[in-house]
Amino acid sequence: MKELNIGFIGTGLISLAHGLSVKSLINNPFFKDTSITLKKVADIDQKAIERFCNITGTKETTSNPMDIINDDSINVVYILTPTRYHKEFFLSAAEKGKHIFCEKPLAFTLSDIKEMIKARDRNNIFAQVGLVLRFCPIFWYIKRYIEDNKEALGKLLTTIMIDDQEWPIAGSTHVSDWRKDKTVAHAGCLFEHSIHDVDILEFLFGSMKNLFSKIRYVSPEAQAGLEDLAILNFEFQNGGTGVLTSIWHKIRRDFRHLELYFENGNIILQKYTGASFKSLKGKIKRKKIEISSSYREINNLYIESKNLPRLKTGAGIYTYENFAFIKSLIEETLPQPSLEIGLRAHEIVEAAYRSSNSRKLVDL
Ligand SMILES: NC(=O)c1ccc[n+]([C@@H]2O[C@H](COP(=O)([O-])OP(=O)(O)OC[C@H]3O[C@@H](n4cnc5c(N)ncnc54)[C@H](O)[C@@H]3O)[C@@H](O)[C@H]2O)c1
Repeated sequence: MKELNIGFIGTGLISLAHGLSVKSLINNPFFKDTSITLKKVADIDQKAIERFCNITGTKETTSNPMDIINDDSINVVYILTPTRYHKEFFLSAAEKGKHIFCEKPLAFTLSDIKEMIKARDRNNIFAQVGLVLRFCPIFWYIKRYIEDNKEALGKLLTTIMIDDQEWPIAGSTHVSDWRKDKTVAHAGCLFEHSIHDVDILEFLFGSMKNLFSKIRYVSPEAQAGLEDLAILNFEFQNGGTGVLTSIWHKIRRDFRHLELYFENGNIILQKYTGASFKSLKGKIKRKKIEISSSYREINNLYIESKNLPRLKTGAGIYTYENFAFIKSLIEETLPQPSLEIGLRAHEIVEAAYRSSNSRKLVDL
């Protein structure tokens, strides 16, 4: 029987989503021929460990992340710490031959990520990046709808995406404050949150080119060099244009909004949270299109179409993400999204900072 003994580094907010997901997969009949264990977790904050263990029932803990990396019985490591530490833990875990799930952003710079890719290849391990929007039934459904109705919709004219989120610092739905420290977070809303959006836009419409952006630092928190507004204008290789607006504000929790305009039709998604949306509507030539307005129905279609087993989806899209990672480890197929997909998202984000600083169009 194959064994996956998993260790987590970091037991904060996102670790809970992964911890609950992994726990829910452990006894899934789909994995009956594999022994999956969430063996040990590490965090430098004892309170975070206690909260994580109370919720997930994990027993073995350590305050030293190297205990996870040096534990020969652990063959899979999840890197779930603030971004600054991703690269260092990734390289150490890779050299020990562990398979790795690493949260986004992968690291601070493109050259850091290239080093991580080399370490993955040198050590013959599997690695997946936490670009979780790729596991959202809603984006899968929109992509499929566009493909199925290509003729009727006509050519893509433009996409308008807005990602607005409450400053993810203590006092909001987040409990920690590292996202206002540039030495730990590296940058603000675009790098930390909308890296998901540039990735999902390329997933939907293919490669971007010709990017022009404006990055701003408006609120007091942003003065430390963490943008709270980024506006990206771009074209897609296959035609069509787009605007992505990324915002950190103090209004309420986060929402994503997506408006797609084609020659003959449109699709409009409002207030998407990852587990619900306010509305999903569309038109082709003045007629309302038959598009599902029920999150549950879209979710069921996703499960059916992907041939997913019955999953306890308490952790929603993170369960799909963990299912895919664990399945690829068992089947020894390349996990997706790969580090290369992560690198590409970083390339777009880096190009946006360059464009804003130079006030020039950047070719991607
Ligand atoms: N994919 C997503 O949807 C998503 C959502 C949230 C966060 N993230 C990413 O996940 C990572 C963690 O974010 P979070 O929201 O869980 O943060 P968090 O602050 O809630 O949790 C991070 C945990 O790491 C611990 N930690 C810090 N330094 C450490 C070290 N050197 N060794 C061991 N533990 C350490 C902290 O004590 C904390 O408990 C970030 O990279 C973030 O961008 C991804």
